[in-house]
Amino acid sequence: MDLRIKSFEEYTEKYALSVENTDQFWGEIAETFTWNKPYEKICNWDFETPDIKWFVNGKLNITENCLDRHLAKRGNKLALIWEPNDPKERFVRYTYRELYEKVCAFANALKAQGIKKGDRVVIYMPMIPELTIAVLACARIGAIHSVVFAGFSAHAMADRINDAQANMVITADGLNRGAKQVPLKRVVDEALRTCNSIEKVIVYDCVGWSPNMVDGRDIWWNDAIEGMAKDCPAEVMDSEDMLFILYTSGSTGKPKGVVHTHGGYMVYTAYSFQNVFQCDESDIYWCTADVGWITGHSYIVYGPLLSGATTVMFEGVPTYPDAGRFWQVCDKHGVNQFYTAPTAIRALMAYGEDHVLSYSLDSLKVLGTVGEPINEEAWKWYHIHVGKERCPIVDTWWQTETGGIMISGLGDLSPMRPAHAGFPLPGIQPVLLDQEGKEIKENKVEGYLCIKHPWPSILRTTYRDHDRCRVTYFSHYKGYYFTGDGAKRDENGMYRIIGRVDDVINVSGHRFGTAEIENAINANGIVIESAVVGYPHEIKGQGIYAYVVCESLPEDRETARAEIVETVVEQIGKIAKPEKIQFVTGLPKTRSGKIMRRILRKVAEGESDKLGDTSTLVDPDVVDEIIKGAL
Ligand code: WT7
Repeated sequence: MDLRIKSFEEYTEKYALSVENTDQFWGEIAETFTWNKPYEKICNWDFETPDIKWFVNGKLNITENCLDRHLAKRGNKLALIWEPNDPKERFVRYTYRELYEKVCAFANALKAQGIKKGDRVVIYMPMIPELTIAVLACARIGAIHSVVFAGFSAHAMADRINDAQANMVITADGLNRGAKQVPLKRVVDEALRTCNSIEKVIVYDCVGWSPNMVDGRDIWWNDAIEGMAKDCPAEVMDSEDMLFILYTSGSTGKPKGVVHTHGGYMVYTAYSFQNVFQCDESDIYWCTADVGWITGHSYIVYGPLLSGATTVMFEGVPTYPDAGRFWQVCDKHGVNQFYTAPTAIRALMAYGEDHVLSYSLDSLKVLGTVGEPINEEAWKWYHIHVGKERCPIVDTWWQTETGGIMISGLGDLSPMRPAHAGFPLPGIQPVLLDQEGKEIKENKVEGYLCIKHPWPSILRTTYRDHDRCRVTYFSHYKGYYFTGDGAKRDENGMYRIIGRVDDVINVSGHRFGTAEIENAINANGIVIESAVVGYPHEIKGQGIYAYVVCESLPEDRETARAEIVETVVEQIGKIAKPEKIQFVTGLPKTRSGKIMRRILRKVAEGESDKLGDTSTLVDPDVVDEIIKGAL
């Protein structure tokens, strides 16, 4: 089960093998897992359709690999440590055996509520152990989980439920977040007014409220598990059966359901977890993401549990009760590997060094970052004050669609350069393409980041719309998976991710399509049209800047702005709030009606002196007005 590479030399050898003999490379890794029936072939693929299959005709269940196979050797080892929002509240620890029993009992409860293989279950939960249990219980019985981050609005949840035609929602009465409590069940009830596929709702009592319970539809978690057996045979799944759907934003208005499958996702999340974080058997590993995002799926739940590691799950926020909370939790549980996002580091930096200096942080061995390019200043702060210049930083580049980490350092094995993700993991073949789609072979170059060979956890499709998957990822450059990112490769072959080259804005490591936010803004009755761009934001990485056209210029701009923000919160959630709203009388468009975002971006960035060629605009006066407004 130990899949770790032990030196940079070995990395170089393994990398070469993975390119020259892909089947042998992945075969040696895959055979360390538990299969009900061995696969017949490692990989079948064509990037045109696309049609990608890994570990063909193999039978397995990912939860048998996360839980059952550890019981003999690690039954009493801690699988999960849960740290509550309130530091005065008791933390929870489950051994592998306890987690196994909890997952089985809840899996039996799901079956008793009528859920079967292939059904879709939406999970809308706080960051509590029951979220992980619900995810694994779905996988155990072959139900497809679709976790919706608990910050999304009723409207956004309803869209996801309807797209997946989900049969069940698992939720809680509410959640704790710093000093606040947020209702969840109420949001679910509102969403379900426009959904007709949901038959049952399971509700976990998290904050002790008494939400409305609909007779015959809603059932309390504790009632559902009452009397359930603590064993549940795992459903035998094909390697290519769907494990989960996770919705993510793209350059169109509607989020798409990225699909991952049992076999390939299992092999790659375990392999990448072990190599990037280099955890020893007795280590404590903590990823601060939310299970509602891919980072939480792959590196709180599946990767660590597949590897028999101890994974920490944190309910709260970095600044509660104060900006030292992350470091207090590291010392309290003796965290060895700590994985967070640049936006969290920048937010904590703003509170000064004192908070971090009050803790020893002696246990830390490896620090990780993910979600967006990390600026050098934040990288240095993390390296000096958190890692005491002793811990390597792994800057992990990947995406919801890639399922696992693609480009990153491996613990302390790899050379490290601030703000550079570094080298690709074995099995990953990145390339940089030029404007014409030709591979740029040399170093010290910049281009569009694509991948030219599949890896086990590449997305298989976008749920119920395969053509969208083809068009979005496989049609820009024939024969390549297109990431949507631009990147540089330095003289040593290390990659540095620059950011998105499509209409996607990355706010605090979360993705939003400009069209998605524009649709939300346009849902407000006073708005005729809008255009949204990203601009550099000190803490969030990028902020959302909206140019809005109304029938007539609102007299009370402040109120109008607040109302538009409120509409976005209703349509998507608080995480998508525009930072700045500028009212304009028109948008700069080309003769063919295309909005010239380049111009809007420059104005939002405060670089209106660098607009470039505006001669193709229908109405150049609009630009003057926009520049004036920005001053
Ligand atoms: C986009 C994917 C996958 C984890 C969380 C985000 C950006 C991600 C890095 C990094 C520079 C990064 C890219 C990518 N990104 N990690 N280490 N350095 N940029 O997942 O929501 O699917 O977003 O996040 O632009 O395409 P996601």
